[in-house]
Amino acid sequence: MKALVLSGGAGTRLRPITHTSAKQLVPVANKPVLFYGLEAIRDAGVTDVGIIVGDTAAEIEAAVGDGSGLGISVTYIKQDAPLGLAHCVLIAQDFLGDDDFVMYLGDNFIIGGITELVQEFRDGTYDAQILLTKVENPSQFGVAELGPNGGVTTLVEKPKEPKSDLALVGVYMFRPVIHDAVRAIKPSGRGELEITDALQWLIDEGRDVRPHLVTGYWKDTGRLEDMLECNRKVLESVEPLVLGSVDADSQLIGRVVVEEGAVIERSTVRGPAIIGRDSVVRDTYVGPFTSIYFGCTLEDTEIEHSIVLEESTIRGVGRIEDSLIGKQVEVSPSSALPRAHRLMLGDHSRVSIASTRG
Ligand code: DAU
Repeated sequence: MKALVLSGGAGTRLRPITHTSAKQLVPVANKPVLFYGLEAIRDAGVTDVGIIVGDTAAEIEAAVGDGSGLGISVTYIKQDAPLGLAHCVLIAQDFLGDDDFVMYLGDNFIIGGITELVQEFRDGTYDAQILLTKVENPSQFGVAELGPNGGVTTLVEKPKEPKSDLALVGVYMFRPVIHDAVRAIKPSGRGELEITDALQWLIDEGRDVRPHLVTGYWKDTGRLEDMLECNRKVLESVEPLVLGSVDADSQLIGRVVVEEGAVIERSTVRGPAIIGRDSVVRDTYVGPFTSIYFGCTLEDTEIEHSIVLEESTIRGVGRIEDSLIGKQVEVSPSSALPRAHRLMLGDHSRVSIASTRG
């Protein structure tokens, strides 16, 4: 069995971070989302992994390399434009050959892995298997309808009027017959080759497409709120570990990880929280559910329930909450008059400034 991991695409909902960076590399508890998926694939016993890459290919390749660090062997497959999930299967045909495979969307986050699903598919005779979970907002996902025998009868991508509350989770199991399906279908109204249409083609051909219900935690990490939630979930169970230095005037409370080379001075870190490699936290309060990635500097500030990406500096500003701060960002107070907020923000940035008016 092989794996096909989709790590191209546009990432419009996490702009501006994703104007310049891959959404699959945004860290959850200081580890890129994509790595959780690759580890789940490896833990299920699949080591031959094809990764679809788009505009952010260089960044993904720099992070994952040949995969040996994760115990897998990676083949990169370049997609010139995000033409759909089924298009990814189409261009991966040489890599996939006649093997069964698991397809994994690189921005999906699942706790509990996929070992059981992969085993069930290896043991079964189905032509395809999809993961489903109940959601409150099915029209934002692919939606499945099940028949009386428990098989899948219809699949529709982001329907305006969903026929059920069962959303497609971004993990799919396929036999080689899927190649016939992706060649047979036509682009959808939004111009993409939809994997839901390919699955529907299999169903219409009388093939057996089986659901596997997910009861554990799953999130599509496309939006800020979802990223913060995943970060919370993972931090809740981190084991406290101090590899960096913490001075006598600082306090670590609860589950706190201080990575190698990190320095904490005259500060309080209330876990669950993680302070990344070579980051400096000085005269600062870091509150629960906060991940500070590597090489950051936090001075004279307060931050809680937030993710800060690498090499950013936050100095001398008031409390920051519920935020995602990109790479090499600088947040600092201004002493120049007139008193004003001076901003240089990327396109599609979102800033919510605490009002100073009474
Ligand atoms: O998260 C689950 C949902 O994922 C399913 O319920 C939907 O049926 C499925 O279509 C998909 O919807 P999204 O709108 O979330 O897909 P997105 O465009 O975010 O792409 C998912 C991943 O695949 C992401 O890592 C980017 C990558 N991708 C996407 C496209 C369209 C590619 O590598 N190439 C592509 O052409």
